[in-house]
Amino acid sequence: MTEKLKINGFSLGEVKIENGLVLAPMAGATDRAFREICRKHGAALTVSEMVSAKALCYEQMSKKNSESRTAPLADVYKNEEPMAVQIFGSEPSFMAKAAALLESGGYRGRTGNGLPVSIDINMGCPVHKIVSNGEGSALMRDPKLVGEIVKAVSGAVKIPVTVKIRAGWDEKSINAPEIAKIAEANGAAAVFVHGRTRQQMYAPSADWSVIADVKKAVKIPVIGNGDICTARDAQKMVEITGCDGVMIGRGALGNPWFFSEISNAVRGEEFVPPTLEERIKTALSHLELMRLYKGDFIAGQEAKKHIAWYIKNVRGAAEARRRINESADIEQIKAVICRLTEEDGK
Ligand SMILES: Cc1cc2nc3c(=O)[nH]c(=O)nc-3n(C[C@H](O)[C@H](O)[C@H](O)COP(=O)(O)O)c2cc1C
Repeated sequence: MTEKLKINGFSLGEVKIENGLVLAPMAGATDRAFREICRKHGAALTVSEMVSAKALCYEQMSKKNSESRTAPLADVYKNEEPMAVQIFGSEPSFMAKAAALLESGGYRGRTGNGLPVSIDINMGCPVHKIVSNGEGSALMRDPKLVGEIVKAVSGAVKIPVTVKIRAGWDEKSINAPEIAKIAEANGAAAVFVHGRTRQQMYAPSADWSVIADVKKAVKIPVIGNGDICTARDAQKMVEITGCDGVMIGRGALGNPWFFSEISNAVRGEEFVPPTLEERIKTALSHLELMRLYKGDFIAGQEAKKHIAWYIKNVRGAAEARRRINESADIEQIKAVICRLTEEDGK
């Protein structure tokens, strides 16, 4: 037995997120295949990639019978529940309409057989294309609009509504506690806090004291996020901030075992890191899941980055990455990965 890690966990409506362990939404990474793998390894809640509220609504209004591009991003399947769907946008009416569509599942292009446990509102995306439309982290500059959006979305659905925020727009405008209070007053059921400003994007290190300030400011559950790379980091974040759960992003890329490591620590059980063989086996099954869900062509393109994450720090990884990037199809990618274990055994 190792030292027990204490994370209180939190609830989304009737659903208890037992170990408080959440896989962060990551556009281009946390798709169905990866979410499923992380759930299997101990993530208690996953979140979709961000979904444009407006695009989802427009897709429903379109008379063209073209293939849905937005709806599949919001698909929830039974074997990955509980899962939240994250929406982004800046117009309360579209946000509310999108949330209602997602809650009911009654929209065109849906193939998932499950439903979201909650709707999360993106108030953290720092990307220029998004903030220049007043969406994502730009919302934190407009507290009044934050209140209107949360109120409209909460009023449109019965399931819980959460917000994912940053520390603030820049270091001169750290307002996460104020935004969290506004969200709470307008119906938010929980808040995810990434301890960086929009200006900081993804570096330098996250400021966890902001998460502590949010925790002091609101009564709803607060889930801390940013730079959790080891089980000890998770423990430290809980101790420093008093947060009810932890959200993990980059630390899980190519490393779904991170969830087993933390959930084992919560149970006071020892964690044995995966062998190279196990890592390769999981990378291969990840590839096969992507192939099943996205088809050979897209899986072949999108799997390359995941494989690169799985083989990080493995002997021969640089050469393998080069060969994977040059691979024309999935079979070639698989052959390169398999060779890594063979070479390791020499
Ligand atoms: C590739 C990538 C894509 C991301 N996409 C989203 C997104 O769609 N929605 C969101 O709220 N945050 C997104 N984020 C931010 C993460 O959810 C998280 O807040 C951030 O990575 C900090 O956590 P970490 O240090 O554990 O990675 C993204 C981050 C990365 C690296």
